[in-house]
Amino acid sequence: MMATLFFLLFLLLGLYLALRPLWGPKDPFPEPPRREELLRELSVLQEEVGALEGEEKKLALARMVELERALEGWRPPEPRAFNPLPVALALGVALLLGVGLWRYTLPRLPGETTVTQRAEARELRALSQKAKRTGAVEDLLAWGRRAYELQVYEEAAEAYLEVLKKDPKNVEAVRRVGILLFMGGRLEEAQMFLEIAQHADPKAAEGWLFLGNLYFQKGQMPEAIAAWERYLEVGGEARERVEGLIAMARAQAQGGRDGKSVFQARCALCHGAQGEGGLGPKLQGNPILKAPEAVREIVLKGRGQMPPVPLGEEELKALLDYLAGL
Ligand code: HEC
Repeated sequence: MMATLFFLLFLLLGLYLALRPLWGPKDPFPEPPRREELLRELSVLQEEVGALEGEEKKLALARMVELERALEGWRPPEPRAFNPLPVALALGVALLLGVGLWRYTLPRLPGETTVTQRAEARELRALSQKAKRTGAVEDLLAWGRRAYELQVYEEAAEAYLEVLKKDPKNVEAVRRVGILLFMGGRLEEAQMFLEIAQHADPKAAEGWLFLGNLYFQKGQMPEAIAAWERYLEVGGEARERVEGLIAMARAQAQGGRDGKSVFQARCALCHGAQGEGGLGPKLQGNPILKAPEAVREIVLKGRGQMPPVPLGEEELKALLDYLAGL
């Protein structure tokens, strides 16, 4: 709150300083009516002075000087040169203060500090510059690994794809690209990459974890269970969580045949245990259930806030039957 006030104050001050030169001073000399006369006299003298000689010329010149002096105060002031420096300075200060306050006062995630964040960003930039300069697979891998650790996934993808261009058989790059594709929702491509990677290097725990997640998302429970079990075998660290996932997949695989359990497992979270609605709209008595083709389409492809729910043909049929009776 205080920081916002300060920021506004500095912004206004900066704007004031920046715009002040533009207002400029008002002309301090109101023009007296005689000015026109004097100017006319002066121009007549200027024309004639060349033709005059001796004493007359001296007098004319003296009068011209007098006229010049009298006119001095009334000449329109020289236009003040616009000086961009103070404007730029003031705007710069306002901007710096704004950015500074913004960076330091925004709420942050627990454990996140701007200092370490900036150090990490610098480290990452150095790694990426080196990798782009040398183009060596080792440097690209170092960049990709660090970006992946720091969850800067676009950069990780860029680095690992670059590795694959140089060394298409690099297992780490194949696996990581597979994981990144999975995170991006590109399940088919992700599956291809991850299956190749896990075949080549079955000891890589993270590959099994994500392959399991992927099968689970596709509704292939036995495959998901097998992949997660491999994860535990090779010593994956998230033991408890994965054991929980396996139990859930088992329950779904068993109950998967009747429509009610499919609904409980895959839809109830959003549409309510009895289809009474929740995050998603009410399904009980919903006229759309009389159009099973439409429901099938929504379930398999998703719609708006609803993600696609991949289901096998059998499960889907059972689910549609169940829904028709809701
Ligand atoms: C992650 C939450 C979520 C899950 C899981 C989910 N839905 Fe939905 N569903 C929604 C939301 C949100 C909408 C509204 C979508 C829109 O139209 O924007 C919706 C819409 C629908 C509609 C269209 C309703 C209408 O009146 O237009 C149907 C039918 C439907 N869901 C069926 C299902 C079925 C069957 C399942 C399980 C296989 C399921 N949903 C799983 C969130 C979910």
